[in-house]
Amino acid sequence: MKKPKILIVDDDRNLLELMVMRLEDAGFEPRGFDMEDGVVEEVSKNSYDLAILDLQLLKTDGITLMEEIHRVDPELPVVILTAHGSIESAVNAMQRGAYTYLTKPFDSRELIVQIERALKSRTLEEEVKRLKEMVRERYDFKNIIGKSQAMTILLQQMAQIATVDSSIFISGESGTGKELVARAIHMASSRKEKPFVEVNCAAIPENLFESELFGYEKGAFTGAVKKTRGYLAQADGGTLFLDEIGDMPLSVQAKLLRVLQEKRFQPLGSEQPVEVDFRLISATNKDLIHEVREGRFREDLFYRIHVIPLKIPPLRDRKDDIPLLVEHFICKFNEKMQKGVKKIAPRAMKKLLAHDWPGNVRELENVMEYAMAMCQGNTITDDLIIISRLPGVGILRPLKEERDAFERDYLTRLLRHTGGNVSKASEIAGKYRADFYSLLKKHNINPS
Ligand SMILES: Nc1ncnc2c1ncn2[C@@H]1O[C@H](COP(=O)(O)OP(=O)(O)OP(=O)(O)O)[C@@H](O)[C@H]1O
Ligand SMILES: [Mg+2]
Repeated sequence: MKKPKILIVDDDRNLLELMVMRLEDAGFEPRGFDMEDGVVEEVSKNSYDLAILDLQLLKTDGITLMEEIHRVDPELPVVILTAHGSIESAVNAMQRGAYTYLTKPFDSRELIVQIERALKSRTLEEEVKRLKEMVRERYDFKNIIGKSQAMTILLQQMAQIATVDSSIFISGESGTGKELVARAIHMASSRKEKPFVEVNCAAIPENLFESELFGYEKGAFTGAVKKTRGYLAQADGGTLFLDEIGDMPLSVQAKLLRVLQEKRFQPLGSEQPVEVDFRLISATNKDLIHEVREGRFREDLFYRIHVIPLKIPPLRDRKDDIPLLVEHFICKFNEKMQKGVKKIAPRAMKKLLAHDWPGNVRELENVMEYAMAMCQGNTITDDLIIISRLPGVGILRPLKEERDAFERDYLTRLLRHTGGNVSKASEIAGKYRADFYSLLKKHNINPS
């Protein structure tokens, strides 16, 4: 590990020498100056990790020097040394950007504790900045892959509405990218520095819904051992993402509607209303109009949340996006798995293009993850593309549709197996030839 570099400016030479010595002993790399001349230049030439400045210098004062230093290195933490009793200047120093202050005379251990604390909080700040950057990068529009007409239009709409503060309603089958789109909109909005709070309405038991959403005071109900902030309060200033909103219980729907109208709410067990300001994005893979008709979703809430509708089409309706998505996932998993896969064999691509993807992009991503994990060379071959047809994977369609899809698929595989021989095929299927023929006719399948 590199030793942290520390700049010290103090016109009291004895103290300066003492500090340099102590800091060296403590494993730092200190550099002392007994006057302010040339200090700013020194900071701009060499990168320091922290500065210690005496408040009373010969020509100027430590706070002015700090401001000059911050002009060349705005993030540099500064500790100001003040004379005993000058509380006012200490406060002034903090207000103008010092990390902390120490009152003379001070113990060198005290100084070292402060330095370590400042350095740690600087690393933490940098880490938070780096992580935020990473998240922003990940949810950038450019990571939403799609050149099909439907996706191009969707991306255009997203760019237009991101900065408008209206409620957004995203619909689309499971795995089409609703969450991805919601996060990208948040990241492109003026609320991006504030929280994005995701609530999966399908995952919260009905009896806990209100307390999770609105929060509660200590003692509001049995088990409320301490005051707890709910999702609404957490989302203040940012974006509230209500995923699977179609699964929200009717009793909670009524209360949510009130919050959206009044922009405030009362935590459970509290008399005090809390003001909130958030942008609402909701999503569902249910047909919400159908839910309204069936009386399971409030019509007035539907209109409230449905200000800007975004519809993400299923992958089977935009198969021209598949090659791009495949390329995207190859890159992604190359990085994640430390692999060097370069391409995909035409037959493997054909297989991907032939499938209907009931689980949409998520299913494609899983298939690609498996193929990438198993791939040994630089090409993904068709034997690595394993598409499982487990029931319950992806969306559930009406029984008749599922049965028809299965029959069609079964018959095709069966005939391929028998090389188009109907007698053999009907035998394996356990059907009379005549019945088998009518099945083929129903599905419009030509045995040869
Ligand atoms: N257009 C896209 N480009 C790149 N990745 C995508 C795209 N659409 C979806 N994905 C990826 O597919 C996966 C599923 O997306 P996401 O979780 O957003 O779907 P969802 O619609 O919220 O699904 P569910 O309804 O099941 O919650 C994620 O890993 C996401 O990154
Ligand atoms: Mg989702």
